[in-house]
Amino acid sequence: MSSKIETRVLHVDSNAPAPDIIQIAAETLRAGGLVAFPTETVYGLGANALDETAINRIYAAKNRPSHDPIIAHIYSIDQLDTLAVNIPAAARQLAQAFWPGPLTLVLKRAPQVPANIAAGLDTIAVRMPGHPVARALLKAAQIPVAAPSANTFTRPSSTTAEHVLNDLQGQINIVLDGGASTIGLESTVIDLSGELPTVLRPGGVVVEDLRRMVPSVKFEPKQIQMDKNTEPSVSPGMLSKHYSPRASVMLFDGPPNVVIVAMCDTAQRLNANGKRVGILSPDDEADHFTELGARIIALGQSDDIAAIGRVLFGAMRALDSQGVDTILVHSFGHEGLGAAIWDRLLRAAEGQVIRVNQ
Ligand code: TXA
Ligand code: MG
Repeated sequence: MSSKIETRVLHVDSNAPAPDIIQIAAETLRAGGLVAFPTETVYGLGANALDETAINRIYAAKNRPSHDPIIAHIYSIDQLDTLAVNIPAAARQLAQAFWPGPLTLVLKRAPQVPANIAAGLDTIAVRMPGHPVARALLKAAQIPVAAPSANTFTRPSSTTAEHVLNDLQGQINIVLDGGASTIGLESTVIDLSGELPTVLRPGGVVVEDLRRMVPSVKFEPKQIQMDKNTEPSVSPGMLSKHYSPRASVMLFDGPPNVVIVAMCDTAQRLNANGKRVGILSPDDEADHFTELGARIIALGQSDDIAAIGRVLFGAMRALDSQGVDTILVHSFGHEGLGAAIWDRLLRAAEGQVIRVNQ
């Protein structure tokens, strides 16, 4: 966007946000403005979900294509019935179990909800976030709030107000700074508008927990099947660039010991070719990478997948600001939160996986 607006940064206590600050942000939303706010998953870029013009401002600020639909955020379950129709029993069950929290339900859209929030689809994605600042804002605004992640399109989602400003300063009215998001990965998106409940995006609520409640939940992780005899090998790109740092990402998968060796070899080769290499490494593996002349960011202990998820996007941004050309990272499993991390890494790597077998 060419025309710049002044972006105000308003600090709030993440657990007990000051009501006068929340009121300023709520009024800005009601007046059609853009307010970025913390949620437990990532920061959202909010606008009045019932105001077509305000929703268009989100697409413009993010440089987001108009075919990518946006989630509506609510404070109370009553608001759900103003946004969606023909809500199936499974949706109510999941809402009861996981809201407020990192779960988004895709349902049939109510006719009074502007079509542009859903990119023209006949559905609407709805989430009730649990973060106290998000809840206070939604309660004060008294309107459902459309909010994609508060990053420029294709960039890693923002997990701090600083990330939001890096991408969106001059494009939005307010950032509520309530500290770092605690989950750091976006919500799980489940489509309940069709025959079978289907996970569209793995996220903060793990699929195993959804299935405990609704056993028919379908989830086909984006996983690339490789010929087991060829190694290391690169699969063809299958996914559009998303959640991406500016640097290119090389994603390795396989048993930890061989993956570490392959990453070291690759880092050395790239380094010899004059490339600046960044490595995203669990704390307990970082020692393997210290002699390679690479920038290393430690993500947390490899058995603490929640800690890794929390810092992953921020770590990608940090390596970008250090000016690396290529980022090396490996998978953290495919179960539980590992599925969400895998999904984000796979998109950041544009669908390319270097699978190392033995
Ligand atoms: O955790 C989150 O979900 C964060 C916070 C701010 O709530 N929001 C977020 O929004 O990640 P966004 O726009 O970055 O991702 C929304 C995802 C996209 O994958 C989009 O395609 C999908 O939800 N989505 C939204 N509306 C949909 C719809 N009507 N049908 C299918 N998918 C939809
Ligand atoms: Mg996003």
